[in-house]
Amino acid sequence: MARKLNVAIVGATGVVGSIMRRLIAAERGNWGEVRLIASPRSAGKQLDVGDEVLTVQAIGEAAFDGIDIAHFDLPDEVSAEWVPVAAAKGVVVIDKSGHFRMDPDVPLVCREANPGEAANRPKGIIANANCTTLALIPTLAALNAEFGLVSMSVASYQAASGSGKEGLEALYAQLQKIAGVEGLGTMGSDLRLVLGEEFDAPFGAPLALNVVPKVGGWKDDGWTSEELKVRNESRKILGLPDLKVASTCVRVPVAVGHSQVVHATFEREVTVADAHRVLGAADGVDLVDDPANGVFPMPIDSVGRSGTQVGRIRQSVDFPNSLEFFVVADNLMKGAALNSIETADLVRRELEAAQ
Ligand SMILES: NC(=O)c1ccc[n+]([C@@H]2O[C@H](COP(=O)([O-])OP(=O)(O)OC[C@H]3O[C@@H](n4cnc5c(N)ncnc54)[C@H](OP(=O)(O)O)[C@@H]3O)[C@@H](O)[C@H]2O)c1
Repeated sequence: MARKLNVAIVGATGVVGSIMRRLIAAERGNWGEVRLIASPRSAGKQLDVGDEVLTVQAIGEAAFDGIDIAHFDLPDEVSAEWVPVAAAKGVVVIDKSGHFRMDPDVPLVCREANPGEAANRPKGIIANANCTTLALIPTLAALNAEFGLVSMSVASYQAASGSGKEGLEALYAQLQKIAGVEGLGTMGSDLRLVLGEEFDAPFGAPLALNVVPKVGGWKDDGWTSEELKVRNESRKILGLPDLKVASTCVRVPVAVGHSQVVHATFEREVTVADAHRVLGAADGVDLVDDPANGVFPMPIDSVGRSGTQVGRIRQSVDFPNSLEFFVVADNLMKGAALNSIETADLVRRELEAAQ
């Protein structure tokens, strides 16, 4: 019988790390040792992985001894430093940061689009795309296979937890501050009086009862880093280097679940009925589209769900070969932890077969 592989969650104390612990617990029988790693600040902390209570180790070269596959759930600059260290020790790294995603020698893998790429990892590193892109890919991959995707225009409505523990805690703190203010209704809309400058972090402006049309840092020509990720990472995963993409990323006061409005144009003719047929059978897609009965996808219903949800599928006579739709996914599940687990499953099967 094949030796059971050892797996590490690096960044086990973060919001993505906490979902990783839950998902690994659900498939505990597949693994030998499960090791939890975080910053030296968290060393010695006791965390649950299902019924087990494990002690967090501080990151360091020795922390990767004996590990076969490591899920990295760290800030970009920390991944940049430690991923090569783990890979040099023969660990297969699945990294969720933005640092390695566009490296031509690092595959960017999503099971529903390019699972075979997981085996093509010259640096021993596989990247996990950003949460906004991953929410779109299962739907886009299925429609592209059938109708040939040519271009898309996307607007996102992204949850606070996309900014990690800090983002989620900031939203809750702002909501608590607002809830504690008497007579808010008579203050009109000037929430700036309630939420002073100290609440501008980490979104650049208060998020509670607001929307912030800036996700990530500013890049050239007014685009943000998140908007460029949607374009570049979609092209790489779908294998469509010439895909035309325009994206506007917006942060909204939702705890978990990224939503996106998509206008997609295809090479071939497509109808709403065609899209229902294709998406109803697509891997990783839940078709949630029964407007007559008030059924459509929403972030509140996406939390903890494995699939991505798509609905509000429409067609305008003004735009031939095009569809409008609304996609929602739990940014911590398919947008992060679940996709990483699915990629690790491909690698685990490959390594076990090679033993
Ligand atoms: N949140 C999302 O929706 C989402 C989706 C897709 C991808 N991602 C990516 O996933 C990664 C983790 O995001 P997150 O939202 O889980 O962030 P988070 O909640 O802020 O957690 C960050 C984790 O990194 C650890 N860490 C920070 N500095 C470290 C250091 N110097 N050395 C070792 N460990 C360190 C933290 O450990 P301590 O607790 O010890 O500080 C914590 O475990 C990021 O690259 C993010 O871009 C996030």
